[in-house]
Amino acid sequence: MGQWLDNAVFYEIYPQTFKDSNGDGIGDFQGIIEKLSHIKELGCTAIWMNPCFESPFGDAGYDVSDYYKAAPRYGTNDDLKRLFEEVHKMGLYLLLDLVPGHTSIEHEWFKESMKAEKNAYTDRYVWTNSVWDEPEGMGCIRGISQRDGSCAVNFFSNQPALNYGFYKTDRPWQQTVDAPGPQATLDELKNIMRFWLDLGCDGFRVDMAHSLVKHDEEGKGTMALWRSVRTMLDEEYPKAVMISEWGEPDKSLQGGFHMDFLLHFGPSRYNDLFRCEEPYFSSRGKGDISEFVKKYMDSYEKSDRKGLICIPSGNHDMDRLARHLPDVHELKVAYGFLLSMPGAPFIYYGDEIGMRYVEDIVSVEGGYDRTGSRSPMQWDDTKNAGFSDAPAEKLYIPLDPDENRPTVQKQLADPQSLYHEIKKLIQIRQANPALQSNAEIDFVYVEKDMYPFAYLRSTDGQKILVIINPSSAETSFACSYEPKETIYSFGGEVSVQDGKLIVPAGSCGYYCV
Ligand code: NOJ
Repeated sequence: MGQWLDNAVFYEIYPQTFKDSNGDGIGDFQGIIEKLSHIKELGCTAIWMNPCFESPFGDAGYDVSDYYKAAPRYGTNDDLKRLFEEVHKMGLYLLLDLVPGHTSIEHEWFKESMKAEKNAYTDRYVWTNSVWDEPEGMGCIRGISQRDGSCAVNFFSNQPALNYGFYKTDRPWQQTVDAPGPQATLDELKNIMRFWLDLGCDGFRVDMAHSLVKHDEEGKGTMALWRSVRTMLDEEYPKAVMISEWGEPDKSLQGGFHMDFLLHFGPSRYNDLFRCEEPYFSSRGKGDISEFVKKYMDSYEKSDRKGLICIPSGNHDMDRLARHLPDVHELKVAYGFLLSMPGAPFIYYGDEIGMRYVEDIVSVEGGYDRTGSRSPMQWDDTKNAGFSDAPAEKLYIPLDPDENRPTVQKQLADPQSLYHEIKKLIQIRQANPALQSNAEIDFVYVEKDMYPFAYLRSTDGQKILVIINPSSAETSFACSYEPKETIYSFGGEVSVQDGKLIVPAGSCGYYCV
């Protein structure tokens, strides 16, 4: 594992809406370079940037048409190389977004694959033998090729599925994982990774990492595939890291990923925290965290400390955190949790100032209801909140129209802002080994439908008890640990009464024990 990962705090950049340097209404590499100091100042140490490759942008760049070329809207390959260099000069790291499961229908491989004559790309995608035969359990593209067949899709219907083979085959057109077509796809994937690592990126966030081998319910074929990628990395690029969009760490980490996300889909119960009818972190105090903890511990044990389980503040596919926790006090308590859990924390751009979900806007580039979480970064009170010099109607996505929208500038000037609280929490995490990614966790108090909850983070030399009560009511619990020194507290400190710990309403505290 790249050592830099041990204490990393990530920042996700959506390149379209982070910073536009040339006034065309859309963000670009140069804009990101200009704002790297913001990420550094906040205390983040690494960046994940969403796809930036040539694409017709039917799914915001997750429909790649050339894996080896930066999308001109962001700059050239040389500009991207310069971005890597500037990132490194600042002591930061950058992960690109790798989309291995599908391409755009405009990719040259797909155009070749649609031809009736056999060629080098005939087996690059998952095709049936006849246009009348549809791949079961998958959507498909059919009736648009000379080739007689239906091509499976992996996500939207303009994203044909690349062929990594079937774990179990029961139809003549299904190829095994070790057949020449699937092997050639995998070789190409490794070459794409080599290409960008040679240019200077530090690794990849891998899109739909679970989706590659078909008819593979338990993920065994896909895990073996990723293990072979990890072997290549360990041999050729030992500092490179991979994080999966999988949501099942017991599989992904066994499959060679250094990290996996808990996500709004999959079995993790991540939504119970922030994104359900009664989120645990809402001050209403009607949530339940016990199912989340059960799943978390299960994954933690099964994944055998092979890698990191990462809990993001949000991402470009989910509602903004502030949509469910509209009060900044609630957000601060939530970050007290996010920044004291094991695994690398991930902060979605704009979440550090509590950017809002922009309601009722028309879908942009396949965003649909996700578009409201992808609006332009709010830097200051100048034109277009400092995002771009373009006329407002040319912005890629409209700005949050609220005149009280948060901005970086305002929050920098306010010592009580969310920005400053998050910055402080990152500093505390970096200064205390027991709060960091690989330190142990033991849940101390977690009861169904109850507040607060508490966990112990520990290394050989340090033990820190974290006690969190998001609800607006004071509460108490019997605890076998006695809090000594307070390392951090927000919303008031705990006190001892009749052998119980009294936990103030809306509070989060870290205590040495
Ligand atoms: C997950 C990505 O995060 C999402 O934005 C995209 O639409 C799908 N995968 C398909 O690539």
